[in-house]
Amino acid sequence: MIRKCLFPVAGYGTRFLPATKSMPKEMLPIVNKPLVHYGVEEAMGAGLTEMAFVTGRGKRAIADYFDISYELEHQIQGTGKEAYLKGIRSILEKCTFSFTRQREMKGLGHAILAGETLIGNEPFAVLLSDDLCLNNGEAVLAQMVSLFRRHQCSVIAIQEVPAEETEKYGVIAGTEIEPGVYEVTDMIEKPSKGKAPSNLAIIGRYVLTPDIFDILRVTAPGKNGEIQLTDALLAQAKRGRVLAYKFQGRRFDCGSIDGFVEATNYCYQHLYPKERL
Ligand code: UTP
Repeated sequence: MIRKCLFPVAGYGTRFLPATKSMPKEMLPIVNKPLVHYGVEEAMGAGLTEMAFVTGRGKRAIADYFDISYELEHQIQGTGKEAYLKGIRSILEKCTFSFTRQREMKGLGHAILAGETLIGNEPFAVLLSDDLCLNNGEAVLAQMVSLFRRHQCSVIAIQEVPAEETEKYGVIAGTEIEPGVYEVTDMIEKPSKGKAPSNLAIIGRYVLTPDIFDILRVTAPGKNGEIQLTDALLAQAKRGRVLAYKFQGRRFDCGSIDGFVEATNYCYQHLYPKERL
């Protein structure tokens, strides 16, 4: 049973400077909802209700977003504008939110280890909200939770990318054990040109078993001097089993300007009734 979703949101978001100088990247809106709102909705769609955030300095806006705003709500009470807050109110009613801080930004693996205090000794999901995943059917995380229930091991989401883009991602090698599901045999973080073991790139959705914390504790800094989740996952795969799942759906890399604009156009055209905006 998975109840908790960890959101590492401590990164600097340098690709969006100057916007991210005083505002978390995760609060950038795709049309009228911040990225992190979509992430929480996806986690809820997978049956998770305990949202745990690893934040950093300058990220208070995220905690405020997932709380009541008395003055504003009082002001618009009884007007048509109240409807705009329906979605976020429903999230607040159904979920709990907890926060801890990563004091130094030493990488994704380091951020996840900082989240141990909120997760404890149980399997959990990790969602990077700058990867926006949309589809018509079951959400990506829900697909992964189903896979976890069957196999009881860590599951990571992967996507085929063009060969020239593999150097931007963690890339896996594996044996396909059922359509779209690979048992991981190798994994390299941001492989240099010609060194990628495949074109199957890891994206920001994971279901992890809690032994990952012990592995992260002894994982040495890797690529760019950061504690890399990819390195810890490879160690976990070597000790036992890690599955990589080629998910159904569409992913937008909202950590980059191009992906962010693409997602905005897509959502504007496909998701939002025009009279609402
Ligand atoms: P990224 O490297 O994509 O995000 O990290 P970034 O550092 O925020 O953005 P750029 O590259 O400077 O533009 C992937 C995810 O891991 C989190 C980030 O918040 C993001 O969600 N992260 C990364 C942490 O929480 N802590 C870290 O030390 C590093």
